[in-house]
Amino acid sequence: MAEKILIFDTTLRDAEQTPGAALNGAEKLAIAKHLANLNVDVIEAGFPRSSPADFEAVKQIANEVEGPEICALSRIVEKDITDAWEAIKDSTRPRIHTFVGTSEIHIQGIMRSNRETILQRSTEAVGYARSLCATVEFSPMDAARTEPDYLFQIVEATIEAGASIINIPDTVGYAIPSEFGRLIAEIRQNVQNIDRAIISVHCHNDLGLAVANSIEAIKNGARQIECTVNGLGERAGNTSLEEIVMAIRTRRNHFGGVYTDVNASEIVPISRLVSRTMGIPVAPNKAIVGANAFAHSSGIHQDGVIKQRDTFEIINPKEVGLQESQIILSPRSGRNALRHRLSILGYEIEPEQMDSVYDRFLALADKKKEVHDADLEAIMRDEIRTIPVSEAAYRFDHIQIFSGNNISSTATVGLQTADGIVTEAATGDGPVNATYRAIDRVTDLPLKLSDYSIRSVTEGKDAIGEVTVKVEDKGRLIVGHGASTDIIEASAKAYINAINKVIHSQENAGS
Ligand code: KIV
Ligand code: ZN
Repeated sequence: MAEKILIFDTTLRDAEQTPGAALNGAEKLAIAKHLANLNVDVIEAGFPRSSPADFEAVKQIANEVEGPEICALSRIVEKDITDAWEAIKDSTRPRIHTFVGTSEIHIQGIMRSNRETILQRSTEAVGYARSLCATVEFSPMDAARTEPDYLFQIVEATIEAGASIINIPDTVGYAIPSEFGRLIAEIRQNVQNIDRAIISVHCHNDLGLAVANSIEAIKNGARQIECTVNGLGERAGNTSLEEIVMAIRTRRNHFGGVYTDVNASEIVPISRLVSRTMGIPVAPNKAIVGANAFAHSSGIHQDGVIKQRDTFEIINPKEVGLQESQIILSPRSGRNALRHRLSILGYEIEPEQMDSVYDRFLALADKKKEVHDADLEAIMRDEIRTIPVSEAAYRFDHIQIFSGNNISSTATVGLQTADGIVTEAATGDGPVNATYRAIDRVTDLPLKLSDYSIRSVTEGKDAIGEVTVKVEDKGRLIVGHGASTDIIEASAKAYINAINKVIHSQENAGS
């Protein structure tokens, strides 16, 4: 009988540790809801002990997201486990995941301990977690570099203590597929009580082998894969969710018929959501979700695909949620046509939001004459802020620029605030610098700009420019986005978006 592979998504925990990818609570919740639509089996929502903000974010996800199990990470430390449980206890399907390094290098280098103590502390921690929560997962971190006999011993002891999922991490992405597959087989042969637990794997991509190692693990009996959207995560990232799911789906017979319950048509939408929320673009050649993953440029390939799609495509792009664009909207298109097209792209517009979206659409259609899907997505990315407009401290109102190649630039910027429109002017080294200085004068919140990038979302001279900025606030990087056919306006909007998020998170921290 075909066996199911559980998909454990750790985008909100391991990927969120990526430098510059930190998310606020609203952003984590939005991604968690999409992960539920994707139908993953487990969402690792965060590490509650790591910060009060993460505790609150995990709690909100546990309270509001139905469907998948909601998992919280903890070290083998009592207060970590207590916090993890407090954060998830209201979920209908809670899971505690507790971990400790078990390789010599981790036991001595980080824990300054010894094998006996780590074994005893692990079983106590699992026992305590099990006294709170019915489902407990244990990870011997750096398992791929752990001495095998000790690994078998600690796995057996933690199953005895109540763990029903044993996760085998290749924490530093060191394993080679044949060797990692053998390790899983040996665990099955040498751990007496292994039939009482599901074997999971958590592979990092330092040698580019995370997906290959996960595949070998499945072939040798692993039945849960830990992975992230777009393969994000510490350093080179984790096993990519879209790659492992589509490998299983596309080569099902090769795997002896295993399957996942993932709703593949949500793969591209969630990839885009995670990329824009974390401010990390997807490489064009990234398998499954990259812009070129289904693009054919050579004449022979184009001819082949037109005659028969599967000559050069092993996956139908519609399977992963890529829609072919048939309708091109113009200034004559009405609200219904716009609503219909947006719903195909995965955006359900609330009636009160429609006026603003339609006005922006018309303004763009007047300039461009033809509005394509990528334009609409840029409008929506700009429109759907994680901070509701009513709660945003500042909104862009107007801008004037005086600039040239041999004069310093001057920007006059007007922002809407609770007290009406406030206008300030500043000079700077280029129009973006002058704009940001003028905004700083209005907000009086000088932030360090750590990253600025701009990309065109469509082709042509009238394309929409989308700007992403990262600003530093108390050691955290906050991402802001803005889009417009005017790149200075897009730059201003991205900076204001980041400022609003900083203010929002400061208010929440203070409340
Ligand atoms: O990479 C790792 O080992 C981890 C553990 C916490 C599972 O992320
Ligand atoms: Zn990891």
